[in-house]
Amino acid sequence: MPAASKAKDLKTELAESAAKARSAHELMSEIVRLLQERMLKYNWVGFYMLENLPGQPPMLVLGPFQGAMTPHTRIPLHQGICGAAASTGKTVVVDDVNKDPRYLACSLETKSEIVVPIFVRGKVAGELDIDSHFPAAFKEDDRELVEYCANLVGQRLPAIADRK
Ligand code: SME
Repeated sequence: MPAASKAKDLKTELAESAAKARSAHELMSEIVRLLQERMLKYNWVGFYMLENLPGQPPMLVLGPFQGAMTPHTRIPLHQGICGAAASTGKTVVVDDVNKDPRYLACSLETKSEIVVPIFVRGKVAGELDIDSHFPAAFKEDDRELVEYCANLVGQRLPAIADRK
């Protein structure tokens, strides 16, 4: 199947999962499962959610993920490629993680990474992080797919002001 129709099929399936999911957490678990299973170069797929506690620096906290356990379960906003994406609100694609001084190593096999912020009412609420064992694995199509997933989750998360 051509890559474009494969991505379209996956997007349809992701949208169906979003409609069926009973919570944002369930949707995130389904997204990491589907992406890691279908996209052969997506070796580690996980969410980090922004924790904003009064009197404490904001922190990215590991959420649902597929792949090996990472030592980075809590990442401050000034650290890592994850911190860069959350603090700028921009997708970050790194073709060679070993050449990026911001990179926090998760696995020695990781060669490239994409991190896409998740927005709720215009504010960063978390991000979707994907690592690949292949250099420069994330092209324009991948960015579009991962941003599509981040958007599905953003639509399901409560706005910060509405959180209990
Ligand atoms: N590589 C990330 C840390 C998270 S692990 O990849 C799961 C970073 O540089 O922020």
